[in-house]
Amino acid sequence: MTHPTRTQSSLRLGVNIDHVATVRNARGSAWPDPLRAALLAEASGADGITAHLREDRRHIRDADIEALMAGISIPLNFECAATTEMQMIVLRHRPHAVCLVPEKREERTTEGGLDVAGDQNRLADYIAPLREAGARVSMFISHDPRQIDASARIGAAVVELHTGLYSELLADGHAELADRELAALRKGAEHAASLGLEVHAGHGLTYDNVEPIAAIPEVRELNIGHFLIGEAIFRGLGPAIEEMRRRMDLARG
Ligand code: PXP
Repeated sequence: MTHPTRTQSSLRLGVNIDHVATVRNARGSAWPDPLRAALLAEASGADGITAHLREDRRHIRDADIEALMAGISIPLNFECAATTEMQMIVLRHRPHAVCLVPEKREERTTEGGLDVAGDQNRLADYIAPLREAGARVSMFISHDPRQIDASARIGAAVVELHTGLYSELLADGHAELADRELAALRKGAEHAASLGLEVHAGHGLTYDNVEPIAAIPEVRELNIGHFLIGEAIFRGLGPAIEEMRRRMDLARG
């Protein structure tokens, strides 16, 4: 299924709703409901919804994926590790996009990019049926050109560049190092686009650090979760998303 882009902007916003499920699961109750958050995000200008079904189901659960697939009318970007179980789930639900991420049980969030270069043959075989099922397959990687080249070689449609280090460096006051990381992200985006890959970016993005990333011309989509769900406590999810959208558009000029 093709989905129209909802905004006039050339930069899409994917809202990650994992941490709505984190809050729900903290009390073992039915609320807050991730589908309700997704529908509100949709009504507030999100171009897509991202949900990460982790192996340990610590936030999003299988029933959430089912509810999202049935309930939202913007594209679902299904994030998962490259395991056989997840492949079967993708083939059952056929989401618009699949973003492959590395996953370790002990990490708090997705800490590093996927090693596509080191696992090329397996990943090429892994994504082939996903592509045949019509999913846009994305690799969540660092800006390392070896990882970008390998993603193109195995037939991925998209790379999502990991902005976690950039955002951490800025938050820790290392402005110079953050600038260097930003320059590497820019170069990575340019390189990936030159190979025909669509470029996305995400992780750790906030109102304070989003603009330089949004200004990278090759970047077509940002995926943002934790900050927006946190900000929703203070201003509500709709206004939190609208403000992010405003800053993204401002950066885009
Ligand atoms: N993109 C990917 C591939 C991710 O794994 C995550 C975190 O789940 C995000 C984007 C969003 O990161 P954050 O929650 O820090 O905004």
